[in-house]
Amino acid sequence: MKRFRGTSPASLQILISFDAYSPQSPAVDNSEHAFIEVILLLAFKFIQIMLTIFHGTARINSNSRKIADYYDEVLGKRNIPHQFFTLENVDDSIFNKTFHNPKHPQLQSIEDHILGPTSKYIFIIPEYNGSFPGMFKGFIDASDVKKCFHNKKACLTGVADGRAGNLRGMEHLTNIFNHMKMNVLHFKIPISQVSTHLDAQGKLQSDEIKAMIDQQLDLMLDF
Ligand SMILES: Cc1cc2nc3c(=O)[nH]c(=O)nc-3n(C[C@H](O)[C@H](O)[C@H](O)COP(=O)(O)O)c2cc1C
Repeated sequence: MKRFRGTSPASLQILISFDAYSPQSPAVDNSEHAFIEVILLLAFKFIQIMLTIFHGTARINSNSRKIADYYDEVLGKRNIPHQFFTLENVDDSIFNKTFHNPKHPQLQSIEDHILGPTSKYIFIIPEYNGSFPGMFKGFIDASDVKKCFHNKKACLTGVADGRAGNLRGMEHLTNIFNHMKMNVLHFKIPISQVSTHLDAQGKLQSDEIKAMIDQQLDLMLDF
């Protein structure tokens, strides 16, 4: 799994959807799993499909980061190759100035190594003032949209302290992503009152939300 914070290119990995591969499937035993994993890793190398978790805020110690970390953990447990990207470490001037000329070197690197190679995104987006964070839009506006987003697939999870689970923000994003030639999975997860679903260590506790995340990931792999 590759993280934005400077891991080696050797860890760059790729993802393919594979119907039989699901840890919930009682029909698949451990030896079959091992075999499927080898086939998947070989297939990934040739088909070049990349899954990226995109965490959409730079706010430190955010609850959406804790949800994004849970996705990271689940994909890791399922042995699904993926990348993790967060706005936390992105240079402020990328959001603030939008157009650097020449392009900001950090943004160039993110585009070349993380977003450009991505074919499927899992967006974890907090609700700020009734929608997604402005810094997230600022980042998208600063990026090479054709290279990073055109013809790619996305699923959305909203995170809020209030009751709406960022439903409105996910609708806004669906429209914007469609404008950007992205296809958005119908199964969106609104996580409301998020702090009530996290323990003192920030670990997700809700079995209901965990089940929805499993379902969303299964759908996303087939999408
Ligand atoms: C600038 C800002 C605006 C916010 N606006 C809303 C809001 O409109 N509705 C809501 O339910 N929560 C709102 N919140 C609370 C966040 O939804 C809450 O912090 C939640 O944990 C997700 O954000 P986080 O990932 O930054 O923690 C807001 C938080 C911030 C920092």
